[in-house]
Amino acid sequence: MRVLETIEDLRAWRECISGTLGFVPTMGYLHEGHLALVRRARVENDHLAVSIFVNPRQFGPNEDLARYPRDIARDLALLEEIGVDVVFVPTVDEMYPPGFTTTVDVGSLGERLEGEMRPGHFRGVATVVARLLHVFRATRAYFGQKDAQQVAVVRRMVEDLALPVEIVAVPTVRDFDGLALSSRNIYLSAEERAAALAIPRGLARALSVFEAGEHDAERLRRIVRDSCGMEQLIRVDYVSVADAGSLVELILVDRAAVLLVAAWVGRTRLIDNVALSM
Ligand code: PAJ
Repeated sequence: MRVLETIEDLRAWRECISGTLGFVPTMGYLHEGHLALVRRARVENDHLAVSIFVNPRQFGPNEDLARYPRDIARDLALLEEIGVDVVFVPTVDEMYPPGFTTTVDVGSLGERLEGEMRPGHFRGVATVVARLLHVFRATRAYFGQKDAQQVAVVRRMVEDLALPVEIVAVPTVRDFDGLALSSRNIYLSAEERAAALAIPRGLARALSVFEAGEHDAERLRRIVRDSCGMEQLIRVDYVSVADAGSLVELILVDRAAVLLVAAWVGRTRLIDNVALSM
């Protein structure tokens, strides 16, 4: 496995390979959620590259950039085990050299939900993902359904900019008790972690009610809000039932949709979602 730090080295490697290339962008501190993407990409492609870059541009001024967890040695060992060919670990200066001014803005899709709570977040995501996709020229790039809006934003960008890559969305990996795996789960105390289970519990309940025929969006949202409301440690940012592609809020679920929630558990902000498939 090769560990590359510069775009120049990456381009040189890219020039030398033929066949399909899978690419998994990450911010590191890898868990089984990330590794599900990497394993899927491994079996679907001839070559496999992963990037590890904590992207400062997608963090707001009051967010956890400085304390975002990192363990590059462990990450590299995990990726080596799966048979990754190249890991790209650029510095901030490599990704954003002096004079860098161009950004990618996906418009209103990036301003709803997470975008409303985290202004500029999706501009930061789209900009870094666009730059990475250009450098890697991957056949397929893999993203987790856990970040449903990120998948929608990346798909929109790839479509709008006619980028020659297939975006693959991988189902959310959950812990044994249902909590969606996230790098941020390590911030949770034992008590907060127990309280956080109200989130997947609410989503699962709403999903089964939906599958039993309830298509009224407000009733589905209420199930999740009520579940979270049982826990004093949880403060809900939003619960949304939205069109799966545009993320426009729905009144009635009459098309492929997603039920999304963002909530604070103590000082940690978690997001989760389930697909509402027709
Ligand atoms: P990061 O949070 O490190 O996540 C990297 C990828 O892993 C994302 O596509 C994310 O959706 C996926 N992922 C995280 N937890 C998951 C889980 N429990 N199940 C399945 N997939 C999961 O998302 C980012 O980094 C960044 O925004 C990035 C795309 C790298 C751009 O900077």
